[in-house]
Amino acid sequence: MRAHPAGPQHAAGLGGPGWLSEPDDANDLLPALWPSTARRGADGVVSVGGVPVTELAAQHGTPAYVVDEADFRARATAFRDAFAEAFADACGGADVYYAAKAFTCTTVARWLAEDGLRYDACTGGELAVALRGGTDPAHVLLHGNNKSDAEITRAVRAGVGKVVVDGFHDIERTADAAREAGVRQGVLIRTTVGVEAHTHDYIATAHEDQKFGLSLASGQAAEAVRRVLARPELELRGLHSHIGSQIFDVSGFEVAARRLLGLHAQVLAEHGVELPEIDLGGGFGIAYTTQDAPLAPAELARGMAEVVTAACAQLGVAVPKVSVEPGRAIAGPAGVTLYRVGSTKDVALDGGLHRRYVAVDGGMSDNIRTALYDADYSATLGGRRSSARPVLSRVVGKHCESGDVVVKDEFLPDDLAAGDLLVVPATGAYCHSMASQYNHVPRPPVVAVRDGESRVLVRRETEDDLLALDVG
Ligand SMILES: Cc1ncc(COP(=O)(O)O)c(C=O)c1O
Repeated sequence: MRAHPAGPQHAAGLGGPGWLSEPDDANDLLPALWPSTARRGADGVVSVGGVPVTELAAQHGTPAYVVDEADFRARATAFRDAFAEAFADACGGADVYYAAKAFTCTTVARWLAEDGLRYDACTGGELAVALRGGTDPAHVLLHGNNKSDAEITRAVRAGVGKVVVDGFHDIERTADAAREAGVRQGVLIRTTVGVEAHTHDYIATAHEDQKFGLSLASGQAAEAVRRVLARPELELRGLHSHIGSQIFDVSGFEVAARRLLGLHAQVLAEHGVELPEIDLGGGFGIAYTTQDAPLAPAELARGMAEVVTAACAQLGVAVPKVSVEPGRAIAGPAGVTLYRVGSTKDVALDGGLHRRYVAVDGGMSDNIRTALYDADYSATLGGRRSSARPVLSRVVGKHCESGDVVVKDEFLPDDLAAGDLLVVPATGAYCHSMASQYNHVPRPPVVAVRDGESRVLVRRETEDDLLALDVG
């Protein structure tokens, strides 16, 4: 391994990244990044769902994940309504499956069921949450590139609406489980369409080098269609693709939809089977920082309806019922994480520069996205207003790892000190669900806020929880 002097390499970009500029007022909450109910009150304290973060910290401790129930449900119903409306004429509406991997718990499953969304589970555990939360099994679809026999059997016996088969082995096992349960199981075929989308860019290739799905280009997906149709215990509902994450426009979906619908038309021509559905997956982007400009669900839905309708017209096929699977776009902006600052440190760097490190009482165990994906976040002082000059700072955690960074670059007030509350927005997706117990740090609770009240959805882990699995 090559060593390097820490200064020059780690100091790269010390003026901050190009997109980050010194704010006119570091106390401002930019609406695009925050749950819709977030405010800074006249007393300077940030509140979410009408509950001041000082009260949340006193009642529930820190760190804590805070979910704005009204915001979460408004985003969920905005997707439901936008897709229903945009696809109404083309195919009688669209189904929205919430991707549980973004964040789930039994209360979330109940909110979704009450609000008319469906549920995308990708493991037996996520399925268990859905069922325990009262989700109608017919509204669940089960993903997974390596489902166990037990997961397949349980899903089929529970009566899930669709199993998304991800390989030839899945087809046989799902059919066998359906035969044993005496049911006909709906399936989708996860198809790798050779589109890799991320933010505004997408790459469309002929080959697909990834673990998910059955390749369109190599003929695997067409072979999967033949094999599913050969098993009477299976009902082939349609084709599925998911092209990536943090996508901000519809161009990647357009290529994916055209390719997927090409196979859909081929199935009709070769087998005389008109598949009733098509699932275009999730991946709709959200604003983590000022760099990101996501589309509103209505724009997204309209854009997707246009491309699907045009592709079907070109192929001369009727528009099948469309499904989408947003996760992050519903859960992400609805959640914030509340931390307590433990220490600050100025580190001198070459060229007379220095970096302010602000250490909080959580870190990579409650938000791995910064370390894992080099993700950007923002942060604000939560418990008071400050008129001190903004200083370019880095928010780090308490873990024994130099990559334990929560917010790489943010302007925070110069007088920020131990004991202050710090709030990081847009942490509602892929933070709790990807949390770990690294360094034996117990996982934070999930607290829902609404109309001035807070309640715990998932309680804080204790040291007893950590040790409960250690059988000595
Ligand atoms: C098949 C599938 N559907 C939906 C999603 C949800 O993606 P997002 O949360 O970015 O909308 C994912 C994410 O990995 C996925 O793999």
